[in-house]
Amino acid sequence: MAAQPLNIVKMKKMKQDGIPLSMITAYDYPSARLAEEAAVDIILVGDSLGNVVLGYDSTIPVTLDDMVYHTRAVARGAEHTFIVADMPFMTYHSGITEALQGIRRLMQEGHAHAIKLEGGAEIADTVRATVQAGVPVLGHIGLTPQSVNQIGGYRIQGKDAADAERLMRDAKALEEAGAFGIVLELVTEEVAAAITSELKIPTIGIGAGRDCDGQVLVYHDVLKYTSDYMPKRFVKTYGDIGEQIKQSIGQYVNEVKNRSFPAKEHVFTADDSVVQALYGKVASEKTPEKVSSK
Ligand code: KIV
Repeated sequence: MAAQPLNIVKMKKMKQDGIPLSMITAYDYPSARLAEEAAVDIILVGDSLGNVVLGYDSTIPVTLDDMVYHTRAVARGAEHTFIVADMPFMTYHSGITEALQGIRRLMQEGHAHAIKLEGGAEIADTVRATVQAGVPVLGHIGLTPQSVNQIGGYRIQGKDAADAERLMRDAKALEEAGAFGIVLELVTEEVAAAITSELKIPTIGIGAGRDCDGQVLVYHDVLKYTSDYMPKRFVKTYGDIGEQIKQSIGQYVNEVKNRSFPAKEHVFTADDSVVQALYGKVASEKTPEKVSSK
């Protein structure tokens, strides 16, 4: 029998048992399939899609249609993994009716198991209504990229006491509203540790230190899957796929130019009767040698 995806009840139990949660982003069928084969616990179809796949310089231009399209591809690639999809910029701030319409699309058309919303106490009512509608919600506080223009850049959060208290209040408001977990992004380690120990639901950190209940990284960061990878202090890279892709494509281009690709083993040959019809004689010097296509 095929493995069942993880669920939010088991995630809470994993926190109680001290078992870390692993989460990675994915945006398409092959990335999701590879992540599932690598046994990741949760796949996040993040709106970081905008930066790492669509070529925008922030997550703000990402639309609901983009998210539905990519979530659906991820769901096809990772049928046995718990999939969380981001609600993009400004799709959950104009009232719960509009928010639930978007969430319905991510789940019914995209086949997500849960959705993620950026924000703290100010979106607690939306979180509550979404959970009451039967949808698991992952919160996201700290550096919330959809508000980057308001925050004034990609700044570390929780550096002073007031900010630490605000983050703690936000985390508690989300837990109280029914969120099943909270992403803590770019939060000082001490503050993330304090939030993690106060909450019963798991925290999943990105640049939030070692004491969170789980960790999340962006696929393209883990693999350096870009031509101009910018090192980030909170990321560990585990591969250099970008360089491998560039070298492989470069080699292909060279071999096309110097005619070493395709080689004998890559061609299909016709019967003698075809050669006869074309050239009036069999096995002209011009024709390639026969290669079995079996
Ligand atoms: O969009 C995203 O990839 C995210 C992660 C950075 C948590 O929200």
